[in-house]
Amino acid sequence: MTRQKKIFLDESEMPKQWYNLAPDLPSPLNPPLGPDGNPVGPEMLAPVFPMNLIEQEVSQERWIDIPEGIREILVQWRPSPLIRAYELEEALGTPAKIYYKNEGVSPAGSHKPNTAVAQAWYNKEFGIKKLTTETGAGQWGSALSYACAQIGGIECKVFMVRVSFDQKPFRKMMMETWGGKCIASPSTETQAGRDILAQFPDTPGSLGIAISEAVEAAVTDPTGGTRYSLGSVLNHVMLHQTIIGLEAKKQLAKVGIKNPDVVIGCCGGGSNFAGLSFPFMYDKIHGADIQIIGAEPFSCPTLTKAPFIYDNGDVAQMTPLLAMNSLGHNFVPAPIHAGGLRYHGMAPLVSAALRDGLMDAVAVHQSECFEAGLLFSKTEGIIPAPETTHAIAATIREAKKAKEEGKEKTILFNFSGHGLMDLVGYNKYLGGELHDYEYPESEIAANLKKLEGYPLPK
Ligand SMILES: Cc1ncc(COP(=O)(O)O)c(C=O)c1O
Repeated sequence: MTRQKKIFLDESEMPKQWYNLAPDLPSPLNPPLGPDGNPVGPEMLAPVFPMNLIEQEVSQERWIDIPEGIREILVQWRPSPLIRAYELEEALGTPAKIYYKNEGVSPAGSHKPNTAVAQAWYNKEFGIKKLTTETGAGQWGSALSYACAQIGGIECKVFMVRVSFDQKPFRKMMMETWGGKCIASPSTETQAGRDILAQFPDTPGSLGIAISEAVEAAVTDPTGGTRYSLGSVLNHVMLHQTIIGLEAKKQLAKVGIKNPDVVIGCCGGGSNFAGLSFPFMYDKIHGADIQIIGAEPFSCPTLTKAPFIYDNGDVAQMTPLLAMNSLGHNFVPAPIHAGGLRYHGMAPLVSAALRDGLMDAVAVHQSECFEAGLLFSKTEGIIPAPETTHAIAATIREAKKAKEEGKEKTILFNFSGHGLMDLVGYNKYLGGELHDYEYPESEIAANLKKLEGYPLPK
């Protein structure tokens, strides 16, 4: 056997710093704004996040050290392997070389623990005793429950979007195994939840609603010992995920590849995409010829159809206004199986990268995604999460293009998570029960009409 399937790094080669894209963006980031339209200062975010994470959120430092206490936990699964998808390449008959970074090897099964461990660590350093959060597919809630267990001394409470809570009972069990508490959102525990339930008793829930509940639960704790934790979207989350791309660069260098031709990630709030692609965006900004593609569902077309605007991160408008691509904070998505891709907004850093022409975006229907997931499972062996199948579908499109063009391109994608907790989705697809759904332009326009009068970003 001469060919090398997996490229490993030694634990000592795990990156010691994260990469922050913010200082390298061609045009500056727009600041978060308060309800009065003025920029939100760090002190205004203090009831929601600990100050050490707020400092990272607004940092203009290009490189930020990863504390030893975080690195000691990350080595439970990091550095993650970079894998050459030979079997998939053969099935497609493509001259392209396809590599994927397998983030599914983490204890929670996705990239999410990269930031969960960091956030739990910084909160503990700051003296916080309890974290609240939301979760869509359950990946983030389980990642944070795992991280709180590893860090120790921090409780974790998760508001899980109702439709996923019903579809994915095993995720709740994982959270509880690690000591977290998981309830369906909207719930009767918060004012935001009660208001939504009064209006829409049968709502499937949404990430926007669950965020409102989790933020409310944090800021109304009279002891002051609770903070909120977000699994995507924010700058510090993108930062923590860049360990993925930084490792991938070292791994590609080991097989003589300086830069891939194409880098692909699926996009929900933007964090796994950013984590893999931002270190390559740095090279692109400095002249490298790399195509960077974000893949999203047609049913939640934040990058491909939504405008770049100021909008709230949640339904109850508790968060500041963020400059991002947004379908409108009232967006309630169709219950597609890629629960983690059903968020109305996109990370401000990813939205800015799109605005600045550093990346492209494609939309994919869930049938194409499940088809891609099945092909990947049969060839490479690992069953991908429904979210991850969007990146695989986009990769397959690029590999077929390389075949048509006769080009031996290197394609790198982020295998953001395994799908062993998502088999209900596969079962429905195999039973012919899943349908494609495209979010109508008229609905987007109706949502955005409610934002008239909001300030506009640059
Ligand atoms: C496996 C997996 N991939 C991707 C995502 C999308 O999130 P993000 O865009 O922040 O990476 C999620 C979110 O839950 C997920 O669980």
